[in-house]
Amino acid sequence: MKKLVVMSPGRVNIIGEHTDYALGYVMPAAVNLYIVLEGAVSEIVKLKSKMLKEVVCFDLSNLARTGGWGDYVKGIYYALGKRGVRAGGLEGVVGGDLPIGSGLGSSASLELAVLYFLNQVYSLGLSRIEMALIAREAENEFVGIPCGILDQFSSSMGRRGHAIFLDTEALRHEYVPIPRETAIAVFYTGIKREISKTVYRERRMAVEEGLRTLGVRSSKYVSSSDLVKLPMKHKRYLSYIVRENERVIKVRDLLRSGDMEAVGAVLVEAHRDLATNYGVSCPELDFIVREAVRLGAYGARLTGAGFGGSAIILASKDKVEFIAEGVLSNYVKEFPWSPKYFIVEVSDGVNAVGRIGGV
Ligand code: GLA
Repeated sequence: MKKLVVMSPGRVNIIGEHTDYALGYVMPAAVNLYIVLEGAVSEIVKLKSKMLKEVVCFDLSNLARTGGWGDYVKGIYYALGKRGVRAGGLEGVVGGDLPIGSGLGSSASLELAVLYFLNQVYSLGLSRIEMALIAREAENEFVGIPCGILDQFSSSMGRRGHAIFLDTEALRHEYVPIPRETAIAVFYTGIKREISKTVYRERRMAVEEGLRTLGVRSSKYVSSSDLVKLPMKHKRYLSYIVRENERVIKVRDLLRSGDMEAVGAVLVEAHRDLATNYGVSCPELDFIVREAVRLGAYGARLTGAGFGGSAIILASKDKVEFIAEGVLSNYVKEFPWSPKYFIVEVSDGVNAVGRIGGV
């Protein structure tokens, strides 16, 4: 029986938040927290989640939605089917150390694990960019979550030690090295991001309406003089996106020059803008950012959709643990949640780590 073990990373977004659905710039990095899929070829799909202690089982001729995590897997078959690509089934176990629903791209990571497995064992011939697009389509059209390409692109295209500067309209990317002495800590607030779904949809709709009013596809083509033509709500959100696009370019250049103090300052400015003008932060995330900076981080900001989930802290390698520990001990005095932090390494995209049998 053909078997394969696939490791699919989660992601942090260093800068470029809520810009992907406005077809602007983002700069994420895949991190060494993974969804691990140990699978074997099969006629049907049968997957057991170690984290959720649940089994998902379905026949490929029946892709009915059930509202559970199996929909991400069915969505992959749906999106492949739309392209006329036929893949067989898989049977196996899903595990790993990427916390689910913590704003680190766990859905995309699962999608990419499944898709990478199918691509390998059924020789589908898909490129990594195609896999990212298929996974996003699965999530948008089948699962019904209106996300952009950020998470799927990161899980698929990550490169060890590098951030990915991505133009989400042209899908052109550059790898930007992260200086060796810089560390990234991911700080999970302990709050799952349920409410963020409604707000996410609302923001996305407002931004898309704004872009339509201006007659452009991508926020890259919006200038500050265009913004004055918009109604208040659209102006407020789109102005944030225009500033954030500029910050992504700035951080890319600062990273290249190794000026981490300046990178950190832009991250903090971005967080404030997200909190004050885009309205997707929460007291917990603001607290983490404030404390991290007070304790000597280069910078910190919410990462992902916001409203809970996680923040990233950028700091020098010799200080990062002290800072993350300090934030943790003060955070638990202030809030009733169970937070967690991880000092992460920047990882390659999805890959097979073990082949058993004749794959
Ligand atoms: C979520 C979505 C991404 C992106 C971020 C916000 O993680 O899945 O596509 O929009 O929020 O930057």
